[in-house]
Amino acid sequence: MAFGVYVHIPYCIQRCTYCDFATYEQSKIMPPDQYVELLIKEIHQKHRYYQAQKLDTIYFGGGTPSLIPAHLIVSIIKELGRFGFTTGPDTEITIEINPATVDKEKLQIYQDHGINRFSVGAQTFDDRLLKMVHREHTARQTLETLELLRSRDLNFSFDILFALPSQTVSGLRRDVQIAIEQGAKHLSPYCLTVPDGHPLSKGRPLEEEQVEMFDLISQELSSNAFKQYEISNFAIPGFESRHNLLYWTDQPYWSLGLSAHSYSKSSRWGTRYWNVNSIGEYQKQILQFEGREFSGPTEHLPEGQFENLAMHQALTDFCHTSMRLMRGLDLALMQQKFPADVSQKVKSILERLQGRGWVSFSGNYWSLTKAGLVLSNQVFQELTFLENEFPQGPNS
Ligand SMILES: C[S@@+](CC[C@H](N)C(=O)[O-])C[C@H]1O[C@@H](n2cnc3c(N)ncnc32)[C@H](O)[C@@H]1O
Ligand code: SF4
Repeated sequence: MAFGVYVHIPYCIQRCTYCDFATYEQSKIMPPDQYVELLIKEIHQKHRYYQAQKLDTIYFGGGTPSLIPAHLIVSIIKELGRFGFTTGPDTEITIEINPATVDKEKLQIYQDHGINRFSVGAQTFDDRLLKMVHREHTARQTLETLELLRSRDLNFSFDILFALPSQTVSGLRRDVQIAIEQGAKHLSPYCLTVPDGHPLSKGRPLEEEQVEMFDLISQELSSNAFKQYEISNFAIPGFESRHNLLYWTDQPYWSLGLSAHSYSKSSRWGTRYWNVNSIGEYQKQILQFEGREFSGPTEHLPEGQFENLAMHQALTDFCHTSMRLMRGLDLALMQQKFPADVSQKVKSILERLQGRGWVSFSGNYWSLTKAGLVLSNQVFQELTFLENEFPQGPNS
């Protein structure tokens, strides 16, 4: 079983108009060394939740982790190591970086401490659109950052935003082509999601055009050696995000920091637990238990911050996350994890969806077809289970 750690760094130069993540403009939150001290205390308090082991992955996400001093990022890796959560050359360590927030010295420190994957929040190479969504960087700065990464032969990934107001298909094609030319090995396209009434909800490409935009991204990438391996992730084979794969393959992960969500196998069907979204409350919770250690979330987290899953929830999660992968749902794995009658029920649903042309079965995997990909929300709906469907389920 693989295991990884996520670390949330909630600092940003500015708040982008569309962003709903738990993150603060840097002047509106405590200095980063104080936040990292809280993270270190959290490691002390929770390290016994998991067996100490060599880590397969670490992911520094945000926010903008590259904004805080590099030695603070290093201190987190070191602290995990002190508790036996060690890293080696085969540990994938990713950091999200925003253009114009790294320089040679920072990169050297990252590299010296095993950080080997860089996720660049490029978004678009159109300065007008960047300005419109209140991104601080320009396309030129992104290109300079990429030049720096390439000069060190580093592995980097891109985030691309599409379906922005006034964005055109040809503008998006240009963005994807630049991403490919620049040497990204992995690309995550994000379709802008904003609620009705949001300033960015007006003037957006219509739904049909949004589908066309995604198709265009997919076509450009697949004709350039990229493979779609998840609903909204593409990679040159061998460069898939091992950390994100943990989420989609039912592996445990420990997440630290503001709003971070974790998954452990400590109860029959798995346990999810999470931290609060407000920095003041997060700080209060960590300081409240300073110097103490716990063996699981039920010992100290408030009731609304953990959940021992029931079977129907574990089954829903298993189906949804597996079907997000192009490889699909591993029938043997499902049969191993769930009772025979439960697997049989899922199988018959999938067979029905196969009749509609939404899923197909090959090599013991059930996966979305091209038509199913477009209608994935409906597929997920069919694979959502309620408690009363399994009244006699063991430990359900
Ligand atoms: C939380 S950000 C972290 C990375 C980095 N701070 C950045 O913005 O580039 C991860 C990705 O989420 C995307 N994102 C944030 N809010 C979004 C929204 N409302 N709709 C679509 N994508 C969004 C960002 O564009 C970014 O690429
Ligand atoms: S930089 Fe990223 S995390 Fe920060 S506000 Fe913008 S989208 Fe959100």
